[in-house]
Amino acid sequence: MSATALTKRITAPDIAGRKGSVPVVCLTAYTAPMAKLLDPHVDLLLVGDSLGMVLYGFDSTLPVTLDMMIAHGAAVVRGSSRAIVVVDMPFGSYQESPQQAFRNAARVMAETGCGAVKLEGGAEMAETVDYLVRRGVPVMGHVGLTPQSVNTLGGFRARGRGDAEGDAIVDDARAIADAGAFSIVVEGVVEPLADRVIAAVRVPVIGIGASARCDGQVLVSDDLLGLFSDFKPRFVKRYAELGPQVAAAASAYAGDVRDRRFPGPEHVFAAKKPAPVQE
Ligand code: KIV
Repeated sequence: MSATALTKRITAPDIAGRKGSVPVVCLTAYTAPMAKLLDPHVDLLLVGDSLGMVLYGFDSTLPVTLDMMIAHGAAVVRGSSRAIVVVDMPFGSYQESPQQAFRNAARVMAETGCGAVKLEGGAEMAETVDYLVRRGVPVMGHVGLTPQSVNTLGGFRARGRGDAEGDAIVDDARAIADAGAFSIVVEGVVEPLADRVIAAVRVPVIGIGASARCDGQVLVSDDLLGLFSDFKPRFVKRYAELGPQVAAAASAYAGDVRDRRFPGPEHVFAAKKPAPVQE
């Protein structure tokens, strides 16, 4: 048995049990090498459909397909051994009916080996969450600013500034928690509303652009590392500035190649020495 197989992975019930205790640390990961670097430090690796914007250069998450999520989800599971891996259900793969959601979530679970799926939406998705959970699929909810609804929301602005919108988001979180979600992401809402959501549900609320009082936090890793474009949303804290380092490394390499400084003698393979001639 490998050392990896001996490490017990964090499960959805483990995360559910963290309400009001040590904050749950979550980051996105889309590839095996990044998952391997992050795994020892986080509780949850989210294979977010943000990969459509971060890796593929789309303007939104809408063009992301189930096959993309499965390929990246499987890579992240291979690269990690401790954190629970949660894979986003992409736009169009679950909204039609609970049956469609189960068929696609079952593929995600079986083909990636992940521990749970995440889907966006509030009260309108409660029946689907219940259907999945009762059939063995742990579900993480996602309310507030739900990027798959960018066209109906009219943009990516923070939500919950008005009372009616705020009340609806609290009701959404309650409906998803009551349906059996083990945890809920609340994204891009004003801080007092995030605090209301935390108080309203008995499962951990994971914040992004929400409140420091959430039961955990999630960020897109490329944002935290300073890798993803010049744009920095207000809710992102950069812990590194790798973008300029990547550019500097590429520029140094280009100079070395053009001036024939690379490869050096230490980077090339010597010819085999001829065998000594026998007298
Ligand atoms: O797709 C994603 O990365 C997400 C997080 C930002 C919560 O849903």
